[in-house]
Amino acid sequence: MAKKGPHQTCSMLLMFMLLFLNSSMLHAQELELLLSFKSSINDPLQYLSNWNPSVTFCNWQGITCNNSSRIMVIDLPGKNISGKLSLSVFQLPYIETINLSSNQLSGQIPHDIFSSTSLRFLNLSNNNFTGSIPRGSIPCLEKLDLSNNMLEGKIPTEIGSLSNLKFLDLGGNVLVGTIPISLTNITSLEFLTLASNQLVGQIPRELGQMRSLKWIYLGYNNLSGQIPKEMGELTCLNHLDLVYNNLTGSIPSSLGNLTSLLYLFLYQNKLTGSIPKSIFGLRELISLDLSDNSLSGDIPELIVQLQNLEILHLFSNNFTGKIPGALSSLPRLKVLQLWSNNFSDEIPKDLGKQNNLTVVDLSTNSLTGKIPEGLCSSGNLFKLILFSNSLDGEIPKSLSTCKSLQRVRLQDNNLSGELPIEFTKLPLVYFLDISSNNFSGRIDTRKWEMTSLQMLSLSRNRFFGGLPDSFGSDQIETLDLSLNRFSGAIPRTYGSLSELVQLNVSGNKLCGEIHDELSSCKKLVKNPMWWFYVACILGASVVLALAAFGIVLIRGRKILELKRVENDDGIWELQFFHPKASKSVTIDDILSSKKEENIIHRGKKGLSYKGKSIINDMQFMVKEINDVKSIPLNFWPEIAEFGKLQHPNIVELIGACRSDKVAYLVYEYVEGTNLSEILRSLSWERRRKIAFGIAKALRFVHCYCSPAVLVGYKSTEKIMVNGKDEPRLRLSLPDLLSIDTKCFISSAYAAPEIKNSKDTNEKIDIYEFGFILIELLTGKSPADAEFGFHESIVEWARYCYSDCHLDMWIDPMIKEEALINQNEMVETMNLALHCTATEPTARPSANDVFKTLRSAFRTSSCVSRLHFSSSF
Ligand SMILES: *[C@@H]1O[C@H](CO)[C@@H](O)[C@H](O)[C@H]1NC(C)=O
Ligand SMILES: *[C@@H]1O[C@H](CO)[C@@H](O)[C@H](O)[C@H]1NC(C)=O
Ligand SMILES: *[C@@H]1O[C@H](CO)[C@@H](O)[C@H](O)[C@H]1NC(C)=O
Ligand SMILES: *[C@@H]1O[C@H](CO)[C@@H](O)[C@H](O)[C@H]1NC(C)=O
Ligand SMILES: *[C@@H]1O[C@H](CO)[C@@H](O)[C@H](O)[C@H]1NC(C)=O
Ligand SMILES: *[C@@H]1O[C@H](CO)[C@@H](O)[C@H](O)[C@H]1NC(C)=O
Ligand SMILES: *[C@@H]1O[C@H](CO)[C@@H](O)[C@H](O)[C@H]1NC(C)=O
Ligand SMILES: *[C@@H]1O[C@H](CO)[C@@H](O)[C@H](O)[C@H]1NC(C)=O
Ligand SMILES: *[C@@H]1O[C@H](CO)[C@@H](O)[C@H](O)[C@H]1NC(C)=O
Ligand SMILES: *[C@@H]1O[C@H](CO)[C@@H](O)[C@H](O)[C@H]1NC(C)=O
Repeated sequence: MAKKGPHQTCSMLLMFMLLFLNSSMLHAQELELLLSFKSSINDPLQYLSNWNPSVTFCNWQGITCNNSSRIMVIDLPGKNISGKLSLSVFQLPYIETINLSSNQLSGQIPHDIFSSTSLRFLNLSNNNFTGSIPRGSIPCLEKLDLSNNMLEGKIPTEIGSLSNLKFLDLGGNVLVGTIPISLTNITSLEFLTLASNQLVGQIPRELGQMRSLKWIYLGYNNLSGQIPKEMGELTCLNHLDLVYNNLTGSIPSSLGNLTSLLYLFLYQNKLTGSIPKSIFGLRELISLDLSDNSLSGDIPELIVQLQNLEILHLFSNNFTGKIPGALSSLPRLKVLQLWSNNFSDEIPKDLGKQNNLTVVDLSTNSLTGKIPEGLCSSGNLFKLILFSNSLDGEIPKSLSTCKSLQRVRLQDNNLSGELPIEFTKLPLVYFLDISSNNFSGRIDTRKWEMTSLQMLSLSRNRFFGGLPDSFGSDQIETLDLSLNRFSGAIPRTYGSLSELVQLNVSGNKLCGEIHDELSSCKKLVKNPMWWFYVACILGASVVLALAAFGIVLIRGRKILELKRVENDDGIWELQFFHPKASKSVTIDDILSSKKEENIIHRGKKGLSYKGKSIINDMQFMVKEINDVKSIPLNFWPEIAEFGKLQHPNIVELIGACRSDKVAYLVYEYVEGTNLSEILRSLSWERRRKIAFGIAKALRFVHCYCSPAVLVGYKSTEKIMVNGKDEPRLRLSLPDLLSIDTKCFISSAYAAPEIKNSKDTNEKIDIYEFGFILIELLTGKSPADAEFGFHESIVEWARYCYSDCHLDMWIDPMIKEEALINQNEMVETMNLALHCTATEPTARPSANDVFKTLRSAFRTSSCVSRLHFSSSF
């Protein structure tokens, strides 16, 4: 090797220095860009505290470099970062991955982001970005996730030039317009989600060119027109979801070419015609859901080919013919819901014997013949719903020993025979309706052991003999024994059914008195039962004083008299609803509670204070209404209605007072914590208990009070939870809702119609309850750090939920519990989404909410998705 001369060495050195200089200049540039990013954002958790020049930037939190100290990755998801997104991170010359998902970034996404040439993965999901999707192209981009923001406007046609994209999620925004045809140029795309936007127009037939697609999710938009037959060319597809759109026409038979399809969800559209035969060749299908359309025709025996099918939902369509016997030989079939169709003939005799049934709902069809013997062969059947058919014969023996059963509705059929003795010993059945059949025999000569029973209807049958003293359950709420041939007296023991709300024994031959336990009801007063309904047609020879039809006994607190008091502050009207309060609390106690240190709540309409009686230390809470305009004209009548209410889940109003300037509501003082403070630390077990308590309170208020009292503006902050996980709600007065309306508008809790109208009704409570359920399930709230702001948490939940993966929306705190409670969590979310329907009339009633929740919390086996239905 020739020896290098000095000149040569020098120039090499120079070159080396130049290279080094160049390289360190580049490093300086990267440093500068990162610092510029840092200065544009807020970092309340100080996560970026080591982002300063004294540390080499490759060691900064969230930064990854390659071996030549080039910045490749910025990974800062869920760090509560807020502020605007500066362009600088996109100017990093070698950046490949930017993940800022689940922060609180807002404002527009900078339009020059597409100047980056190196970027491959960009995730800005779950933030609060507004404005439109930037136009442009990043040639290398493989993953683009802008989901769950508030992006508006149209999907830019330039999106089609992202020719290496594999993953595109624009779901959960407020995008409008049509799906751009250019999108279909991205033939590398495997995952496409545009769900939960406001897209209109047709699904482009060119979608058929996107041969790499494995997952299409376009649900919850307003797409119309037909499903393009070209979709049948997407042979890699395993998930096709077009639910909640306005799709018309028939299901194209070409979809039968999608041989890898596992999930086919087309529910809630306007599809017509029959299911093409080819669909029954999709041998891999796990779940087929075509419910809530206008489909018709028969289900062919060909369905036997779907040997992997677990869930079959065809309810709320117009199907006819026989339920195919082939269903009996689908070994994995778990959930069979065919209700509200026109199926006729007999239920397949062998149904259940070789299936794995947990839920069977064939109600509201025209089925005849007998209930099959084998429905419970799986040992897991918990819901059996066959009402409103023309079934006859007896309850099969095998069902009488089906220990897993929880909910049984067989009403409105022609079933006959006696109620099997074993059947009245099923331990988990909480809902049993066999009304309007031809059942007969005595029911008082056996020992009932239905320990979970809450609702029992034997109405409109031919039972005779006496009434049993007990049904084996002390949880009965509704007992309908009407229109049979029962005789004898109403057993005294019914008086000790502490949960009983409705007892109907009318249309029988009962005689004797309504016992003290029932009529004057010491127990009832103690118990959370106020409206106690006893309907009774009494025999001819009975004491006349009681011979009224439909005696309604209402238990309410006596309203004590209105007092007038004068003090330095003026003249006061004062009323108590609680004898103890009346003897303990004075106007001075109320007024002197108004001190800074006594403030326990700063509400939008005034402060709440903790107060104490000087006579006996009785504690209370005072809520001030200091805006005269907010005091309703008919203050005292309203207050009187309100004061009568008593329920374990409602904070009691114990008194009120007013002058001409100000009013105070005096509530019992509740020891406990605001739900909002503890919610996220609670187990599912405890959250569920709280949800149920709130539902009970709502049902009480909506169903049993007259006039209905709205719960009004409430949130997790307004719900106190005591040491036993019993939630307590504080009610607002109906007329105070005009003030509440203001609160609604400034609050993320507002039901959509409130923004437009003051015409409030119970459905607003239901909306809010749905909202609370979502918070309990997801642990997220509008004020939550991790929750990337969406237009509303509801939209987010709707979007996330319909993706089917519980993991994606459930609060991580309770993820472990989800392993065994998945079904009830899914059903609860389902309910929450119904409660938060935009259209108030689509929301369930408080009673339905209560019942659905009760049923959800009792189911245990695993069903991946269940609809809210009239038959729940
Ligand atoms: C680091 O990345 C840069 C830019 O892509 C590249 O030029 C360099 O070779 C990489 N270094 C290593 C060791 O891979
Ligand atoms: C980076 O360097 C380390 C050791 O210096 C080596 O083990 C590793 O393989 C290198 N990585 C790349 C991607 O070149
Ligand atoms: C970004 O962060 C989210 C949340 O931690 C994670 O799910 C995702 O896989 C990360 N990476 C990319 C490229 O999106
Ligand atoms: C999210 O954006 C909306 C609308 O621009 C705004 O009202 C709200 O305050 C933002 N939230 C956060 C946490 O930035
Ligand atoms: C799709 O790609 C082709 C070829 O690259 C191009 O000619 C065409 O304009 C693109 N179509 C749309 C709608 O962008
Ligand atoms: C649904 O589609 C039909 C027919 O295409 C149309 O008449 C109707 O307006 C659409 N409904 C909505 C809500 O867009
Ligand atoms: C796809 O389905 C249609 C209609 O069922 C059929 O005519 C066509 O041959 C199928 N194509 C392929 C490639 O299988
Ligand atoms: C169901 O079919 C009947 C008769 O074929 C028709 O009258 C009815 O309108 C259909 N209902 C729906 C919801 O399509
Ligand atoms: C039946 O369902 C149970 C749980 O519900 C499951 O463990 C079992 O694997 C299922 N059997 C078949 C054949 O699918
Ligand atoms: C997240 O940021 C919001 C405001 O941007 C703040 O109210 C909240 O307390 C923060 N969360 C945490 C855990 O620091």
